[in-house]
Amino acid sequence: MAGPKKAPALRSVGRARVNALRVLVLSGPNLDRLGRREPEIYGHTTLAQVHERLATLGRELGCGVDCRQSNHEGSLIDWIGSASDEGFAAILINPGAYTHTSYALHDAIKGSSLPTVELHLSNPDAREEFRRHSCVAPACLGRIAGFGAASYEVALRAVVQHLAALG
Ligand code: DQA
Repeated sequence: MAGPKKAPALRSVGRARVNALRVLVLSGPNLDRLGRREPEIYGHTTLAQVHERLATLGRELGCGVDCRQSNHEGSLIDWIGSASDEGFAAILINPGAYTHTSYALHDAIKGSSLPTVELHLSNPDAREEFRRHSCVAPACLGRIAGFGAASYEVALRAVVQHLAALG
């Protein structure tokens, strides 16, 4: 009797690598108020719910997810700076309004040498003029924006796929 089909060796090697992955997910100022803050722009999903969804998706993709939020630029910079030493393979960051002001975050991301994805719930390019400039974009691998709370999940899928392709 034919048993369950075995995945090819290469795939299981890939899966083993993905299993070892841990991704740091950072959210910046005012994102602790997600769900209550301007829901017509940012939606009704809370940050706790976003984190739950990421944990579920992480299990599905075979990677660990550590989610943190701070309203303080220095805390975000400290977390980015120690991410590599903490064993993270990649960073997802929604820097909130620091996106548009913080060259210190740019430098921290660049200095971490970890693949980093900038993400936003809204599409900043389609909003006020001041949101059209991102200080962090040049330091990032890529950017996901405009998909509401799902931007976090899209970004996680994208970075895991990127890391798997690196082998
Ligand atoms: C945001 C967009 C930023 O311009 C804004 O300052 C935020 C949220 C977003 O997720 O859409 O705080 O990063």
